[in-house]
Formats: sequence, C-alpha cells, structure tokens
Amino acid sequence: MISLKDIHVVYDKITPALRGVSLDFHDGEFVGIIGLSGSGKSTLLKTINGLVKPMKGKVCLDELVLGDLSGKKLREVRRNIGFVFQEFNLVERTSVLENVLIGRLGYLSTLKGFFGLFKDSDYEIAVAALDTVGLKTKITARAGQLSGGQKQRVAIAKTLTQEPRVILADEPVASLDRTSSTVVMDTFAKIRHKHKITIIINLHDVELARKYCDRLVGLRDGKVLFDKTTKEISNEDIQELYS
Ligand SMILES: Nc1ncnc2c1ncn2[C@@H]1O[C@H](COP(=O)(O)OP(=O)(O)OP(=O)(O)O)[C@@H](O)[C@H]1O
Ligand SMILES: [Mg+2]
Repeated sequence: MISLKDIHVVYDKITPALRGVSLDFHDGEFVGIIGLSGSGKSTLLKTINGLVKPMKGKVCLDELVLGDLSGKKLREVRRNIGFVFQEFNLVERTSVLENVLIGRLGYLSTLKGFFGLFKDSDYEIAVAALDTVGLKTKITARAGQLSGGQKQRVAIAKTLTQEPRVILADEPVASLDRTSSTVVMDTFAKIRHKHKITIIINLHDVELARKYCDRLVGLRDGKVLFDKTTKEISNEDIQELYS
C-alpha cells in the first residue's frame, strides 16, 4: 500500500502545490486523479515517485518511509514505482525492443547496463511485456515509426519490464485521439488485472476516468475535494470540482 500523510509541497518557496494531502492507495487499485489545470495532479504523482520532495508530510510504501531511504535501498524501492508520461519518453531512433529493455536497467549493475549486456531473461521479460500490450509484431520497428497510441503502449511495456508494484501515469492519453485513448486505457485495465499492479492515473477526461477507474480523487487547489468510489461520484461532485 502507498500512503500519503499530510503532504505539503511548495515550489520556489512561494507556490503551494499540495496543501495537506493524505491518501491511501491499496494494492491492485485503479485510481484516477482529476481536477483543473494547476490543481496539483502532476505534483502528486511526482511526490509519490520522489521527483518532488514534500516540505512536510510522508510518503510510505508499506512500512517504508521513502524520505528516510537513500542510495541502493532507495533505488531498490523506486524500482517498484513505474512512471508513464504524456509524451511517451521513448528513444525514437532505436527499436521498440531496445526501448522496452531500458526498463530493465534498474536491475543491472551500472557497468553492464552501460554496455547493453542484457541477459536472456531480460529479453524474455521485454518480449512478454510487448505481448501484453499487443505489440509483439512491432519488436524490430523503430519507435519513431509508430503511431501515438502504439508509442504509449511501448512506454507501458517498458514500465512493465521494471516489474513495478505501482504504475503512475500522468495524462497518458492527453495527446491521443479517442480510439487510441481507449486502446491505451484498455491496456492499463488489462495489466492491472493480469499483474495486480496498482495504477494511479491523472486524467483530464472525466468520462474516461469514470469508465475505467474504481475510485476517483478530485484535487482542487492542492487539496482533496473528494475521494470516492467511481459509483459514488455524483454530477454535483464533478461540477464543484471544475467550477
Ligand atoms: N517546477 C515548478 N516550479 C514552480 N511551480 C510549479 C512547478 N510545477 C508546478 N508548479 C505549480 O504548482 C501548481 C500545481 O501544478 P501541477 O503541475 O501539479 O498541476 P496539474 O494539476 O498537474 O496541472 P495540469 O492539469 O495543467 O497538468 C501550479 O500552480 C503550478 O504552476
Ligand atoms: Mg499535470
């Protein structure tokens, strides 16, 4: 379980982005974070994976407090947390397979990783991940040749090879058309069921959030306005969030 306890984040000493956020994310949950631009959604995900340090509060993965860890132990724990970006973050000129293998780097010694000496088992994991996202046939294609939706599925496969317990996704379908968005969201739903990975996803599109997520957290001005199962969310909740 991931627990956020009274998280406060302030940028540049003056811009408050999160103002006392406490949330629990249980294993295998599919949680959507929604809210207006600037409400703190990206900051929330960056705080969970340690890209942003809270000035107050704690992020816990089970009984471990992430802020207390450093060096090897921190790297080991962070391997449990995958991140999927809006803009895919692939190396466009290299192959799909090589892009996906990058997810295994956290398991290699620095030297080995540097020289690209992956083991057979790393390749097997990468191919299995591409199979899961439905892109096994694109293994030798250059990443730059793929459509946006395919690129995002490669990015998801790359994150899967990291064998994470949690995937954080920041607006992963914001650059995609409706059809590709649905395919990518279906992919998240599939890996959540297949691998029991917790998925925490920032979404602009409330309709998609309501369709796919078990639970929705509404952020407003850096605070949790609501935290409810998707079934409990009313149109009034949504109206209040975006008013
Ligand atoms: N690196 C930064 N430096 C300074 N202020 C920042 C930084 N990143 C975000 N902020 C500010 O923190 C607040 C929350 O931003 P954040 O990016 O978390 O919002 P968001 O909900 O993800 O917005 P969007 O929907 O536009 O992606 C905003 O006021 C934003 O301007
Ligand atoms: Mg954002």
